[in-house]
Amino acid sequence: MKDKITIYKEIHEKWKYLYDPQSPWYTNLSNAVALLHEKLGYFWTGFYLVDNNLLQLGPFQGPTACTRISKGKGVCGTCWEEQTTQIVPNVHEFPGHIACSSLSESEIVIPCFNQNGEIWAVLDIDSKILNDFDLVDKQELEFFCASLEQIDHDRN
Ligand code: SME
Repeated sequence: MKDKITIYKEIHEKWKYLYDPQSPWYTNLSNAVALLHEKLGYFWTGFYLVDNNLLQLGPFQGPTACTRISKGKGVCGTCWEEQTTQIVPNVHEFPGHIACSSLSESEIVIPCFNQNGEIWAVLDIDSKILNDFDLVDKQELEFFCASLEQIDHDRN
């Protein structure tokens, strides 16, 4: 089995040619989420996009999910409000966690910043295993999310 650093390296390399500047933002964001989901293999991988002062469900892979999240609500809304990555080792112990699936046990949510330093989306990854995310995931996923800033530029 490949180590996590190798898998993230493959993700960063593949994203460089997967991003298609001639395609609309939703095409590129859909492929970004598919790449992460395929390579990392967690239970649920998806983006919530900042839209009209809410987080609105965007491209994702996995079971159906809740469609809108307010600022400060759940892990995603906390990430948006605090503008920092949230690592939740046990979702059942996170006050106000929004349970889209009873199978989710731990999660990581990463803010995606645009060229103006504003959050335009959050990346939410859920695992069926407790305590499944660490500082390597944080560092690598923050790097990946930073490489998506052009997508928000394409969106506006
Ligand atoms: N876990 C999130 C809600 C989204 S679902 O997990 C896909 C939260 O508490 O923000």
